[in-house]
Amino acid sequence: MPHAIIGQSTEIKRLVSLANQVASTSVTVLITGESGTGKEVFAEYIHQHSNRANKAFVAVNCGAIPQGLIESELFGHVKGSFTGASSSRKGYFESANQGTIFLDEIGELPLETQVKLLRVLESGQFQRVGSSESTQVDTRIVAATNRDLQIEVYHNRFREDLYYRLKSVELYLPPLRERGNDILLLTEKFVRDFEQKHSRQFIGFTSEAAELLLSYDWPGNIRELRNLIESLIVLENDEKISAQLLENYLYREDKKPFVKKNEPIENDFEKEMIYRALIQLQTDMSQIKSMLSHLLEKPKQEPAKLLLPERAESILSKEDRKTDKEESLRDMLKSFYEEAKKSDQAPTLQELERYAIEETLKKCEGNKRKTAKTLGITERTLYRKLKTYHIE
Ligand SMILES: Nc1ncnc2c1ncn2[C@@H]1O[C@H](COP(=O)(O)OP(=O)(O)OP(=O)(O)O)[C@@H](O)[C@H]1O
Ligand SMILES: [Mg+2]
Repeated sequence: MPHAIIGQSTEIKRLVSLANQVASTSVTVLITGESGTGKEVFAEYIHQHSNRANKAFVAVNCGAIPQGLIESELFGHVKGSFTGASSSRKGYFESANQGTIFLDEIGELPLETQVKLLRVLESGQFQRVGSSESTQVDTRIVAATNRDLQIEVYHNRFREDLYYRLKSVELYLPPLRERGNDILLLTEKFVRDFEQKHSRQFIGFTSEAAELLLSYDWPGNIRELRNLIESLIVLENDEKISAQLLENYLYREDKKPFVKKNEPIENDFEKEMIYRALIQLQTDMSQIKSMLSHLLEKPKQEPAKLLLPERAESILSKEDRKTDKEESLRDMLKSFYEEAKKSDQAPTLQELERYAIEETLKKCEGNKRKTAKTLGITERTLYRKLKTYHIE
């Protein structure tokens, strides 16, 4: 039985109605949205509401299959076509014939496979690996990605023709934090589910805790909410959940372990601290500015102690791991700061942050994963910041 799609927000209602509309056709659908927003739930919904519902729904995670195997997994192979192919085997496209194939993480498909996928989309035809005969299927394709495919196209990692072909019907699932009261509806649903699963009674949330549920930004979206509710039901079932208690369960970037055990420190510590100061510690602006200029002027001192004294110990010993590249990041921030100060108006924290993001993005040639890593923030946070600052 597919999951019901819970949600009464205008956008979710619109998406469900769009899904109903396309379900009855065989049109290819692309589902986009952050991780945990329900892409797979929507894909199954479309299948279940189509006239293919009593045929197979085959979900394939394109990112989880080794590149060398992906074509034989998708299209099948004939006996002897490669070492280890001791018999012929049909692929997922044939298994899903007359049903639906769900190509999850489609952005991970290698370019050569993308060409073949385009052909299936256009003609329903493909060749099994090692065969010269074409096989014809009637398989409906629903694809999903949490990457921005337009950016992938720009970097020549995703074929433009395939992108436009896939995108003819796109369902963009908004992040949970933009769904308003749906957060509470989903909470209720998960409470009921897990009460039943664990035979526990849930006492409820205080109104402050409910407000926190509504104001929290849910980086892991619905998956995170679902896991949270399960933990609360299992671990906290003898009193009402207060906002304070709830906070302990919510993810906050500043709560992340600063240095994971046994993990080598890759980044120069000073740089890390400067960026953290700029980007994450949303404390008093002038205080940060003075710390920053202090750090920049005296890079050889122990800046860690200024910012996060309790964490300094573990990292200071690695202080001398500096590369030219990292040095130049610091220099660039320094000159920006000095330049801005000359105009008699020290930059605001937002200006510094924006500048740091833009420059790092340039240095990393637009690679968001690298940029986020360099800045010491998650990719998701980076995307949010890019949106906030309208950085293309
Ligand atoms: N609207 C919804 N109503 C009820 N449950 C939902 C809804 N959307 C998502 N869920 C639940 O949230 C969890 C995550 O959903 P799903 O796996 O579909 O997300 P996803 O977008 O595919 O994530 P990822 O990108 O990480 O693969 C699942 O447990 C799913 O059942
Ligand atoms: Mg998924």
